[in-house]
This record gives sequence, structure tokens and C-alpha cells, in this order.
Amino acid sequence: MLRLLITSGFVVALLVLGPASPVTWAGERLQTAQISGDPEEPRRHFRIRRPARLAPAEAEEIYRQLIDELVAGYAPTDHPAARDYRGWRRYNSAPYLSATHGNLYINNYVNEAGGAYGRFENAGILPVGAIIAKDSFVVERNGEVRPGPLFIMEKMPKGFNYVSGDWRYTQIMPDGEFFGETHGEGAERVAFCIGCHLAVEQQDHLFFIPAPYRVAP
Ligand code: HEC
Repeated sequence: MLRLLITSGFVVALLVLGPASPVTWAGERLQTAQISGDPEEPRRHFRIRRPARLAPAEAEEIYRQLIDELVAGYAPTDHPAARDYRGWRRYNSAPYLSATHGNLYINNYVNEAGGAYGRFENAGILPVGAIIAKDSFVVERNGEVRPGPLFIMEKMPKGFNYVSGDWRYTQIMPDGEFFGETHGEGAERVAFCIGCHLAVEQQDHLFFIPAPYRVAP
């Protein structure tokens, strides 16, 4: 608990001390925090020519080629969200770069119970059973593309965890290894998720998606 509070204090300090910015999207004001637990050996997939900044269409094309492999990679965890997320609604139009999740290109899928997510800042408190799954891939400086982790937030019954707003955070590695889960195996490894998302406590701990990538509700 103390650690969580310290982490969130740190994030709040970043928000307060960081350069004043006119953007309204909360995520842009956060500093990069690498997510630990990269797979030991990146597997070789394919290389792209201009890795520095992928246009949305390029990122989407890479994702289209990679998604079967991503889903197959996460599968060994037997986590229901890892099995099902591909059939859920995706709320971003193309993969976008997430500095806060370790320089990954990411996508946000939400199950039916979490449908209000599509109203973004007007979503209110999501109901118990809402699940958000964020799959990801990495584009290295040399253009190499490899799968990234699956990040999950699941709304649990009231009282599950006051500090997390009753969200259970889970991280699954690209090879299906279970990395950690709030109040479960490896809970200490995902405690920092709670701390950062606490910065947007007033919108149910959700940062949502940068405006240019949002799909219409
Ligand atoms: C340093 C801050 C930070 C940390 C640490 C962090 N996140 Fe996030 N998270 C964000 C931001 C910013 C967004 C929205 C933009 C994006 O997707 O990158 C987000 C979005 C999400 C979303 C989509 C729901 C939403 O908020 O719109 C999920 C799911 C998620 N994070 C899971 C996790 C998990 C699981 C962890 C820990 C393993 C984690 N996050 C750690 C900042 C963070």
C-alpha cells in the first residue's frame, strides 16, 4: 500500500512539475516508464525500412500481419481475455505508440460489458465484468518487429481493491507466460500499473486513447 502511494505521488509530481501543456488527453502528460519483464530473447520476425515513425496505415498493416501470432503467443496462459479479446470491439483506428507501456504500438479492445468505454471521458464508472485488453508489438530501432505483452484491466466487484478502483491489472508476456495480476500470482510485479493509472482516478482510472486514433462511438 505504501509503495502504491509513493508511486502515485511520483506520478502526480510528474504531472505537476512537467511542462505546462494545453492538451486535454491525460496520457500525454505522463513520462515514459518502461515496463519490466521483456522476453529474454526477441524472436526474429520481419524488418521494416523506416522504423522511427510509423504512419497509422503502416502500423495497421504490420499489425494485420502479426495478429494471428500475437493471439497464438498469449494463448498458453489460459486467461479468458487472452482467448477472447480478438472478438471484442477495438476502440482505436490503428496501432499507436504508447510511451508509457514501454515504446510499444498498442491496440485497445473492450468486451461487451465495458461498452461505455467508447464514450471515452464520458464513460463514467465501468460496470463489474468490464474488461479492456491491450495487445502490443515492438518496433526496434533497426526495424525489427516483435510481439509485445498483453495488458488487461478487469473491473472486479466493489471491495476488491480500493486503491485500484476495483480494477484487476494483469500482464501476459508475448510467449504466454503469466507475468502478474493484482491480488494474484506476481501481484508485486503489476503494482506499478495501479500507481500510474491512479493519476486519472476521477475518470475511473482510465486514460483512453489519443484523439486522432479514437473510433467513433
Ligand atoms: C507510466 C504510466 C502507466 C503505467 C505504469 C501503466 N499504464 Fe496502462 N495506460 C497508461 C496510459 C497513458 C494509457 C492510455 C494510453 C495508452 O494506451 O498508452 C493506458 C492505458 C491502459 C489500458 C487501456 C485502458 C485505458 O486506460 O484507457 C490498459 C488495459 C492498461 N493501460 C493496462 C495497464 C497494465 C496492465 C499496466 C501494468 C502492467 C499498466 N497499464 C501500466 C499509463 C500507464
